[in-house]
Amino acid sequence: MSKILVTGGCGYIGSHTIVDLIENGFEVISVDDNSRSTPRILEGIEKITGKKIKNYKVDLCDFDDTYAIFAENSDIAGIIHFAAYKAVGESVEQPLMYFENNMFSLINLLKCVAEFNIPHFVFSSSCTVYGNPDKIPVTEATPPKPAESPYGYTKQMGEQIINEFSKANPTKCILLRYFNPVGAHPSILIGELPIGKPANLVPAITQTAIGKIPVMQVHGDDYPTRDGSCIRDYIHVSDIAHAHTLSIKYLQEGQSTQRCEVFNLGSGNGVSVLEAINTFEKVSSVKLNYVIGPRRPGDVIAIYANNDHARKTLGWETKYSLEDMMSTAWKWEQRLKADANFYQSRPADLN
Ligand code: WQD
Repeated sequence: MSKILVTGGCGYIGSHTIVDLIENGFEVISVDDNSRSTPRILEGIEKITGKKIKNYKVDLCDFDDTYAIFAENSDIAGIIHFAAYKAVGESVEQPLMYFENNMFSLINLLKCVAEFNIPHFVFSSSCTVYGNPDKIPVTEATPPKPAESPYGYTKQMGEQIINEFSKANPTKCILLRYFNPVGAHPSILIGELPIGKPANLVPAITQTAIGKIPVMQVHGDDYPTRDGSCIRDYIHVSDIAHAHTLSIKYLQEGQSTQRCEVFNLGSGNGVSVLEAINTFEKVSSVKLNYVIGPRRPGDVIAIYANNDHARKTLGWETKYSLEDMMSTAWKWEQRLKADANFYQSRPADLN
């Protein structure tokens, strides 16, 4: 059973990926400093899988502490790197914090990958690297455009660093560009734990529906789209998670002919903000309290994925519909409300 090191394992996509890896026969260890997550999510993983996950509470910006993990685990067969700051708005206010955290942690990790000859490295990238695309759907060959935020630049630079690293080292790398991950694991034992007021659409919808937010703002309905609101490619977090397992298997089976290969992880369906709200109202039978507000600076007008490469090369197929995304997100929000101790979502309460 090969051991995979997952950084950011207590985070939203990291925790769902650990579940999928375990269900597919992998052994997993996690590295997460819990600065923006709670180790309690590991209890949820244990409830789902029956496996206790060891988490190293380490800041990857500390090279010595990071190195010590590899020295203690000589059998790491691959790494999936999620740990990074990802709040677009915060990155605009604090660019240096984003460049320091997201880049220093990646470089420290890659130094250890080289030192310990780790054969496979999978990187959590984002459709944000495409900026405002001229043509949609976007393929992996769509040229990146200037990012819309420092966060987006950390993903673009991360991809370039890994690309160059893979040319100078035997490690084979995969870059996974997520579109908009939403929803919760079907068990409703793990899900998204936004810190503070959510910037992302689906947690904003569910927190409004549950009454945590009095009224939600739709950021603009005057865009050149079919209903005036922005279009995105929403994808269930468990579908995203499974693509990571398939990526590791693909690398381990020696099928990759490239040193660094890119895959779009999107459903391939463009959905507008108003359509997403409509779908939520349909599955939840809750009338959502929202108003139309001004456009949000930096918002991409419309983007969705051409996911042919992941489907044909990784054998990846999405299992969950938009209705499933909304219903699992809603059930998760209801659980958080019903059991306030289940997980707390503010940094002060996280530990
Ligand atoms: C989606 C749409 C908003 C909240 C995200 C992540 C980013 C990256 C890409 C991973 C936009 C609108 C939102 C609200 C709204 N993911 N909206 N009212 O902007 O596509 O970016 O995916 O790397 O990290 O932020 O997603 O969910 O923030 O917004 O109208 O209260 O919903 O304007 O059009 P986005 P989002």
